[in-house]
Amino acid sequence: MEPLIKIEALTRAYQAGDVEVPVLRGIDLTIHPKEYVAIMGRSGAGKSTLMNIIGCLDRPTSGRYILDGCDVASLDDDALSSIRGRTIGFVFQSFHLLRNLSVVENVELPMEYQGVSPAARRERAVGLLERVGLGHRLDHLPAKLSGGERQRGAGARARSDQPRLIRADEPTGNLDSSARRKILDLFAELQDETGVTLIMVTHDDAIGQEAGRCVVVVDGRVAEDR
Ligand SMILES: Nc1ncnc2c1ncn2[C@@H]1O[C@H](COP(=O)(O)OP(=O)(O)OP(=O)(O)O)[C@@H](O)[C@H]1O
Ligand SMILES: [Mg+2]
Repeated sequence: MEPLIKIEALTRAYQAGDVEVPVLRGIDLTIHPKEYVAIMGRSGAGKSTLMNIIGCLDRPTSGRYILDGCDVASLDDDALSSIRGRTIGFVFQSFHLLRNLSVVENVELPMEYQGVSPAARRERAVGLLERVGLGHRLDHLPAKLSGGERQRGAGARARSDQPRLIRADEPTGNLDSSARRKILDLFAELQDETGVTLIMVTHDDAIGQEAGRCVVVVDGRVAEDR
């Protein structure tokens, strides 16, 4: 099977005044479709930096990133945002449900971009929200939700557009254990149903165990891959 992600000798340095500060120092990583991968490591190790590159939000300083057969370095900004829209579902570290849209409209949004009809969008969005226990909050604005409800809404939105890849940066940070369980169940179910590839940054050993594979980043390099 062709890998979904192939990363070779990837580096990323940040410019701090006159000096370049290396953050990723030569990452090699191959991820196949349908894998569930936890990315772990200490604070500052470079996990979010790596995830931003994987998510096509940022570009490597050097090295190669092939996503779904496409060399990301060769893409201009438009092509990059198009591959991002087609391929990747996002669950951010802080959850960005759009403030001016109701919960159900937020979940419908990715499907709108994909040209799904309004009736079909609504039906699918309501179904997804009911499954995460938000059936009674459809018309609420995100500001009127609890943190856990917002997170579940974002999880429902991430699955509404059936992406090839879902990347989540600490999706369960700051959650109580039952909200955390719901998010993880949602991901597991999603993977069962659609075979999406999941890549999740986490500090949580339990999630590391749950994922089929655990990649530990130490000081900008892959120190362990098990
Ligand atoms: N935009 C930036 N400009 C300069 N330095 C940055 C920038 N973003 C991150 N860094 C630095 O890169 C290093 C890695 O940051 P990164 O956010 O990838 O860490 P992380 O592994 O996700 O940590 P955490 O677990 O705390 O989220 C840190 O030392 C950070 O200060
Ligand atoms: Mg981070």
